[in-house]
Amino acid sequence: MGKAAVTITIACAAATCAAVAAAFFVNRRLRQRTSWKRAQCIVDEFRGGCSTPLSRLRQIVDNMVVEMHAGLAIDGGSKLKMVLSYVDNLPTGNEEGLFYALDLGGTNFRVLRVQLGGKEKRIMNQEYKEVSIPPKVMVGSNEDLFDFIATELASFVASEGEGFYLLPGQQRELGFTFSFPVKQTSINSGTLMKWTKGFAIAETVGKDVVEELQGAMHRSNVDMRVAALVNDTVGTLAGGRYEDDDVMVAVILGTGSNACYVERADAIPKWRGPLPASGSMVINMEWGSFTSAHLPKTEVDDALDADSVNPCDQIFEKMISGMYLGDIVRRVLWKLAAEAAFFGGKVPSRLEVPFILRTPDVSAIHADQSPDLKEVIRVLRVVFGIQSSTLQMRKMIVDVCDIVAERGARLAGAGIVGILKKIGRDGGSLANNGGLENHSYAAAEERKKTVVAMDGGLYEHYPKFREYLKQSVVELIGKEAAEHIELRLSKDGSGIGATLLAASHSSFVAEQE
Ligand code: BGC
Repeated sequence: MGKAAVTITIACAAATCAAVAAAFFVNRRLRQRTSWKRAQCIVDEFRGGCSTPLSRLRQIVDNMVVEMHAGLAIDGGSKLKMVLSYVDNLPTGNEEGLFYALDLGGTNFRVLRVQLGGKEKRIMNQEYKEVSIPPKVMVGSNEDLFDFIATELASFVASEGEGFYLLPGQQRELGFTFSFPVKQTSINSGTLMKWTKGFAIAETVGKDVVEELQGAMHRSNVDMRVAALVNDTVGTLAGGRYEDDDVMVAVILGTGSNACYVERADAIPKWRGPLPASGSMVINMEWGSFTSAHLPKTEVDDALDADSVNPCDQIFEKMISGMYLGDIVRRVLWKLAAEAAFFGGKVPSRLEVPFILRTPDVSAIHADQSPDLKEVIRVLRVVFGIQSSTLQMRKMIVDVCDIVAERGARLAGAGIVGILKKIGRDGGSLANNGGLENHSYAAAEERKKTVVAMDGGLYEHYPKFREYLKQSVVELIGKEAAEHIELRLSKDGSGIGATLLAASHSSFVAEQE
């Protein structure tokens, strides 16, 4: 072949290569553009499905009030259990003596001892120990769970030292905070209706959890009487009331979610006993199981529910609580990866792992103010093993977190307003509520200050969530009425609250009186 022919051949080959390369890049750009468009569609659709305009929140508030009435009328009248707590007297400040509390409700449990010194000396001394529950105990046998707790309690009691003392003849007494749905039968007895928050020990359902605990304490040689069985919301309310008489409602937004409030005893048709002297009783709503056709539920929520240990149950909790928010975000990211090749051709394997993304990570992403979104880079790398992402992708991920947190917070806000409305503390909107409540009572109550004691890691550690929640309450009841409502962080109030309730239901104190 002549020199010219070789040159022409080489030039042709080079031109072909260039054309192939150009086609490849154009194709890739086109594919990327299509993928990005698809990703935007997925996020927009999700945003639409999660939206909580004021009109929708109002419907949820009204549904909540209706369901509260139905649950108070008769057991089983509503998905909202409206459990009678048998707490008809909240702490006064006169409580005195040494009391223990045991707080079981999530992946950790706490044991606590408090020396109460009455009106003058208040809380004289307190100590606690926190123990994490091995995952296998959460889904193991009933006896293993209670033995595990009792053993930890025994070692904590053995460490009781200076600054704590019983009065002569006094037996140690305990407030048992058990943060699962329980049908209470008295202040210190109640049967477990179902587990939530990832616990699944079938044998415990239907059993009296106080008897189970007493039995395990006996086996561990702990000489202690369970004086009060309380839900964590009720403990928080009691702890809050010890500090401030205006506390009427308590809300937990942590791993799980729930609320309780002070109800007029004569507004509880299902209460069969004599009306308590105080005229009121604390109701543990178990609002996690609230559901309404107006809840902005998406296919992502349906899939999360279907895969959970308690399908078709705790629907409200699955949209608002810390256990689930991270997993909702993960599922949206998975969809982006699978349907829009968001992280390249393959779905990163760790995106498939349920609950691998925790809500604290979502909060960290959401709080990231750095120009290149360093936290998102960190979470993608550490949690999902994803090494590369563009700023545009990271902004989209922040957006997904925002959608999930905003929806959860606004729904929780609507739940709180539902309670305020039920007890006539929402600033008077009740007067337009078609006679659901006694109007004159509402009028008299509406100007009082109302404190809502808020506890739980989600509320405490997720500032954006808190902001969205507060904002929704103001939107729903108006600025002026909102000035009479305080959402107050009441950190770890439930443990102290349980000791206070143990004190006010102490058999020893009763004997002395
Ligand atoms: C439980 C409630 C509890 C709440 C917060 C829910 O899953 O059903 O009893 O109060 O979590 O801990």
